[in-house]
Amino acid sequence: MALTPWHKAATPRQDLREGTSLDASQFAVQLNQVRDGNAPEDYKNPAQFFERTYLTKNLISMAAETARRLSGDRTVSAAYNMVTQFGGGKTHALTLLYHLAKNGPAANEWTGVNKILDAAGLDAVPKAATAIFVGTEFDSISGRGGDGEPIRMTPWGEIAFQLGGMESFSLVAEHDREHVAPGGDVIRKFLPKDKPCLILMDELMNYVSRFRKYGHSDQLYDFLQNLSGIASGQDNVVLVVSIPASDIEMTSANEHDYGRFKKLLDRNSKAVIMSAKSDTAEIIRRRLFEWGSRVNPDGRIRLDKDAIKTCKVYADWVRSHKNQVPRWFPADHAQEAFEAAYPFHPLVLSVFERKWQALPRFQRSEPGAFSGSWPSGSRKPIRRTTPARIRMRS
Ligand SMILES: Nc1ncnc2c1ncn2[C@@H]1O[C@H](COP(=O)(O)OP(=O)(O)OP(=O)(O)O)[C@@H](O)[C@H]1O
Ligand SMILES: [Mg+2]
Repeated sequence: MALTPWHKAATPRQDLREGTSLDASQFAVQLNQVRDGNAPEDYKNPAQFFERTYLTKNLISMAAETARRLSGDRTVSAAYNMVTQFGGGKTHALTLLYHLAKNGPAANEWTGVNKILDAAGLDAVPKAATAIFVGTEFDSISGRGGDGEPIRMTPWGEIAFQLGGMESFSLVAEHDREHVAPGGDVIRKFLPKDKPCLILMDELMNYVSRFRKYGHSDQLYDFLQNLSGIASGQDNVVLVVSIPASDIEMTSANEHDYGRFKKLLDRNSKAVIMSAKSDTAEIIRRRLFEWGSRVNPDGRIRLDKDAIKTCKVYADWVRSHKNQVPRWFPADHAQEAFEAAYPFHPLVLSVFERKWQALPRFQRSEPGAFSGSWPSGSRKPIRRTTPARIRMRS
């Protein structure tokens, strides 16, 4: 009997059906666009964002710890870094934290937030003041602001302004003008006192690389050191930093700075990796297909009977042709393997895995770490990297 073709059992997402996301800048998540409200709906509408997010184990635990620290629990870390992870959901994780802290208890209704709250042992995530610094966006020559807002020339001026408006910015206005990193005393003052604070920094290497010749990367280093120190001394301030820049050329100067920042953050914050190898297929199929409410309690997609039947036929074939499939393929658990990857063939994902392992920038992940992702940022058109840019390392 004929099998149901994959495109009848799995509906590609609207943006893909209409071809609107073939421009990578539309396709991927950009934190500054989420903050400014001009990101695609999937990212800026929090309910939609959570519906399309696969909550990996690490994502749940980092979000839970962040929520606890914002609630005043000092037994969990105040600072996190996603330094060793290349691709695979850094910006997605930062976006998730932003939506949670920005909306507080209103987040309780969104898909999966109950899992985060259960893990945190909280009734709600507290609403916090938030600041987002994106290294690919911020420009210390032209600054940000105008139209009635002060012009901010530095990461600390920008973060202070986002957290506490003019009042906080005025405390670092001179540091901003002189491009000197504020000390801990000043940072403590510019943090709003009446609410928790969440500070998110993405793509730092891009900024470091562009502004190194002005000495700004050294000042950013000092700022990060002081900021992480202050966060750990406060009850309800959380700092989350991602350094890697996907498309930056790793010149020796960049390698050197990358090493310095990585060391600093490894000393002062908790290293986290958002996705594990087993999460790849789940993340990819959510990014590409619409599943509606077909989700199991463990967060994985629930396939319909046509898809399961297809997986069974493929699995039966594998079991009876074991000698024709690679030895590492779990032939005895073929049904599970096909269901976990559907509508992709698991060997397709594996081919990508091995190809990407050969790329130098993936060599930098920690052993055992895996990250799978799609093109992000205003980068290469997706056509050049289709169907997926999965990055992994075994
Ligand atoms: N847990 C997840 N659930 C659903 N989609 C995800 C998840 N993690 C990542 N994605 C999606 O995968 C894509 C890549 O993720 P993201 O841009 O966060 O990776 P990144 O680590 O920031 O990559 P880069 O190093 O290129 O900046 C995005 O479209 C993102 O929305
Ligand atoms: Mg990113």
